[in-house]
Amino acid sequence: MTILSILASGLFLLNTKTTTLAVVAKQGSDPRIFYYGTTVSGSDIDGLGRSGFTYQPCYTPFGLTGPQEHAISVIQSDGNNTLDLKITGSSLDEWEDGKILTVTSADPVYDIVVNNVFKTYYDEDIVEAWAEITNGGRKSATLTRYYSAQMPLHTGNVWISTLSGSWSNDANVYQEPLVRGTKLIKNMDGVRNSHSSHAEAMISLDGKPCENAGRVIGMALEWGGNYEMRFVTDDSDYHRIFAGICPDNAPYTLAKGETLATPPVAFSFSPEGMGGVSRNFHRWGRRWRLAHGDRERKILLNSWEGVGLDINEECADQMMGDIAAMGGELFVVDDGWFGDKYPRAVDNSSLGDWVADRNKIPGGVEGLVKMADDHGVSFGIWVEPEMTNTISELYDKHPDWVLKSDGRDLICGRGGTQLVLDLTNPEVRDFAFGVFDRLLTENPGIDYIKWDANMNISTYGSPYLKKQAHLDIEYWRGFTEVCQRLRAKYPNVTIQACGGGGGRTNWGVLPWFDEFWTSDNTDALQRLTIQWGTSYFFPAIAMAAHISACPNGLTHRVLPLKYRCDVAMSGRLGLEFQPKHMNDEEKEFCRKVIASYKEIRPVVQFGDLYRIVAPFDGKGYTSLMYVSEAKDKAVFYWWKQANFTDIHLERPLMAGLDPDKMYRLKELNRIDDNPLPFEGQVFSGRFLMDNGISLPMFNEVSGSTPEWSSRVIYLVAE
Ligand code: GLA
Repeated sequence: MTILSILASGLFLLNTKTTTLAVVAKQGSDPRIFYYGTTVSGSDIDGLGRSGFTYQPCYTPFGLTGPQEHAISVIQSDGNNTLDLKITGSSLDEWEDGKILTVTSADPVYDIVVNNVFKTYYDEDIVEAWAEITNGGRKSATLTRYYSAQMPLHTGNVWISTLSGSWSNDANVYQEPLVRGTKLIKNMDGVRNSHSSHAEAMISLDGKPCENAGRVIGMALEWGGNYEMRFVTDDSDYHRIFAGICPDNAPYTLAKGETLATPPVAFSFSPEGMGGVSRNFHRWGRRWRLAHGDRERKILLNSWEGVGLDINEECADQMMGDIAAMGGELFVVDDGWFGDKYPRAVDNSSLGDWVADRNKIPGGVEGLVKMADDHGVSFGIWVEPEMTNTISELYDKHPDWVLKSDGRDLICGRGGTQLVLDLTNPEVRDFAFGVFDRLLTENPGIDYIKWDANMNISTYGSPYLKKQAHLDIEYWRGFTEVCQRLRAKYPNVTIQACGGGGGRTNWGVLPWFDEFWTSDNTDALQRLTIQWGTSYFFPAIAMAAHISACPNGLTHRVLPLKYRCDVAMSGRLGLEFQPKHMNDEEKEFCRKVIASYKEIRPVVQFGDLYRIVAPFDGKGYTSLMYVSEAKDKAVFYWWKQANFTDIHLERPLMAGLDPDKMYRLKELNRIDDNPLPFEGQVFSGRFLMDNGISLPMFNEVSGSTPEWSSRVIYLVAE
């Protein structure tokens, strides 16, 4: 194909470092995708068509395309239910890290205009796609489906891996072949959207999903509200994949002249298995989508699992002293610190009354900030700004600030009294921003905020909104506005996104947050599964992983402190227990763990993740490693999950190392009486990747060999 004929055909090759997305935008035709895969150049561009790739629709409108599944449907003001989209123009712009292609299509009869936008992130091998839908007519038009993007995918032995779970059982991996029919992943929580399912999927093109081999496309919808991902397989040569806001019960009325910009879907292609896609998303997340993706995270102690709502000044003082002595850097006061007229004694009151409970905390928040400073640690605080309780001064004053439906009883959540505030209302947005503004202005020493959200939308009704069907979208506009105002005024504060655990682990909310609370479940064994799934799309720097008490508060499991530490050390390390209940030996062990984590923190938080053996592989252990960008340092993790007599564990092969570098091995958090044979020895990267290392079944400790064993090994190139 010559350059001229390429231009005439409207073919755009959107290249990233190792991939090409070929979009066809021919005047008068509809937008098409030709190819998505490894980079295509030179004569291979010609080969695309000859090898059997065909132009496939990438934003199918409803009404004139027969039985094809569609991405957009509109009911016009006169009741007409058809839409026709013909390309009227296209533009290609550059931005710092790539290109932005905008393909504009219009209906020749009705004034509906759609921009399909594709934005490349060259260095990270990511392409975002979204749609901007404009009603240029004189009357309103109603969108009954308004997905962000549509991606065709050639059929074959295609498998899909998705994440699903529930409160405290977050992000389990489910893998299945894409077979005939429609697979629909959908979330209708309204406030958090990653508990029951995640808005991300891995699509393995070469059969059963593999970690470090095979072609894989990863996709993530960047949206915090209700969503759908639809995978359609029929008797044609292509699967059709759709993602966007869930339009169920949410027809969107576009006023005259109004544009609806849908949230982007980020795609990444890698020939290096799911691990390759994860590494692309992690790099992209750290560089472009996460607050302070280049800043090391502090090691913190959070009060929640240690003392629950019984936080007070004396106990804060003791906990701050303990975390400081262990070498930690931050103390976070969780739930329970607030409420004046209605103090938060149990979880049925006070949300919205964000003033210190002076009975528990006579010196107020300012006193706590000063106390932390005196202990030499930073200070953080928990708030749930989108919520209230019927027992609160806020609700007494503003009963119309909650989501509810006229003439119907309130549907309450946690404690039998919790309600979601109506963020569609500008006054409520001001209030929510004001919660942060007042706390941070009065206490400039606050370094960290845990922003929680413990309830879903139970009543789809807003006392403020004129178009009730817009509630989901308007809620998210309100949320986004609060986030933007908060970040504009307080760019440096660290903010954790928490939604009753991992309910807000999505790329839609993360741009304003530094990290997320991965799960309310801190049981180290179950965390292996939760953190594994979460790591598909989210980097360790953002994945809060805390060492918790034993037995675990939720699973009641008894696990050695070392095992709990070794699991937490594979994410953003924190502590979540009452140190008062530990003996000196345990505190000393935590002190050493924190010191070691400081050593490996840059590798874990900025390195590349290589997942080796999955917790659900049935091999009796889980293993993964992080490798620094320069491949001069790496951290290898191994956790035994099953214990039966005479089982024989395979040697895990390392990954991601430089084959030609020589690495010296050092075990961290060692409790065994004797060092393992490889301790302090030097091996080539090639040897470690080809042969791995044998790890014994147990941590051999005289007098107390525990059932569970785990290893963290630090590799440093000579
Ligand atoms: C949620 C969070 C927990 C804790 C509690 C406090 O469940 O996920 O970490 O903050 O709320 O009520």
